[in-house]
Amino acid sequence: MSNLVDKYPRVSDMIDIAKRRMPHFAAEYLFAGTGYDEALENNRKVFNQIFLVPKYLKGTVTPVLKTKLFGYEYDAPFGMAPVGMTSLMWPGAEIALSKMSVKNNVPFALSTVACASVEEVGKHLNGQGWFQLYPPEDKAIRNDLLKRAKNAGFKTLVVTADIPASSRRERLRMAGVSVPPKNNLRTFFQAAICPSWSLGTLINGIPAFGTMDQYSNGDWHGNAKSKAGFAGSQMQRYLDWDYLKEVRDIWKGPIVLKGLMHEDDAIKTTKIVDAIYLSNHGGRQIDIAPSPLQILPDIRKKIGPNFPIIIDSGFYSGQDISKGLMLGADFVMTGRPFIIGLAALGSKGANHVHDILKDELSNIMEQICAKDIKELKNQKVLLGKDFQLTNFN
Ligand SMILES: Cc1cc2nc3c(=O)[nH]c(=O)nc-3n(C[C@H](O)[C@H](O)[C@H](O)COP(=O)(O)O)c2cc1C
Repeated sequence: MSNLVDKYPRVSDMIDIAKRRMPHFAAEYLFAGTGYDEALENNRKVFNQIFLVPKYLKGTVTPVLKTKLFGYEYDAPFGMAPVGMTSLMWPGAEIALSKMSVKNNVPFALSTVACASVEEVGKHLNGQGWFQLYPPEDKAIRNDLLKRAKNAGFKTLVVTADIPASSRRERLRMAGVSVPPKNNLRTFFQAAICPSWSLGTLINGIPAFGTMDQYSNGDWHGNAKSKAGFAGSQMQRYLDWDYLKEVRDIWKGPIVLKGLMHEDDAIKTTKIVDAIYLSNHGGRQIDIAPSPLQILPDIRKKIGPNFPIIIDSGFYSGQDISKGLMLGADFVMTGRPFIIGLAALGSKGANHVHDILKDELSNIMEQICAKDIKELKNQKVLLGKDFQLTNFN
């Protein structure tokens, strides 16, 4: 990573260039939160309230980042979160991210509403892919999706729980985000000033909902709806514990329940699926939600030391990842950083983001002589007074 790392040593060093290379509507889709972006901002601020107290005189070590999850050993305790409409933000993103994931042996979760289909992406994932399910109202569609994901070689299922309703996403409305992109003068102009994005889109094709589109063509139980409206109308609203149990009965591999924040939900989750995934959807759903980091220590206490916890929302560096692990998570996922890398540098950017995160995390571990992730998790941590939240009722 020699030249790239000198030019862009941190993920944050690529944000400006990524924004310049993406049409405005695509950049807004990636970077926006919801409402007044308060949850989005808090997701970042909270990291400044977590401190590691180093302990020395332990010799030197070469840290090993390998981490087991569901019996499989990944090379690092982080991966790519499910992100919808990925190729709208950077053409060919799903395939580039799959390749990054296989090359580095870290997970990649394909969204239900990604632009490339489960069948296309599955081919690149060596049987280790994660498929994210937005629970469809129509159970026939749900069952078909699960069957397709399994047949395409996906192993782990991520069921997203945190969108019983769409959020208002004010910035997306103003930017005119849609799939396929609106064919008007405004989007044409935005694309025209981003030649790499436009050329990539010409080569890869106009973004669509690769997996979902086949259900909106009228042949599927008479569900003839516009493609753009279909994803929203079918998904989101219908998850409850019974529905989840049905999914549990169908899917034979590991299941992760994503988007939870409340301790009651966390405790119930441990009885049905294989891991809980704390997330506030990157600040895109409820603007008054806390950062999942702020509830992580409590949830860890409530569900005990052994049930796997995955976390995301606001993790941009190896330092951030180390904080999540030290507070009780087993695995950290990250959404925007990998797309920032892709938009800034093309397909090699996803790899570069991986290398940065791994190098930063490894460096922290080396400095505190933590030989593995278990030792990292046992470090002494101090929390600033603005970190902890008190119960109001
Ligand atoms: C552009 C965008 C699209 C997303 N689409 C999905 C999705 O399709 N399914 C899902 O479960 N989460 C989705 N998420 C949420 C991510 O999985 C993840 O929770 C979030 O990005 C974490 O925050 P971070 O971007 O700060 O890492 C999306 C997030 C972004 C930024």
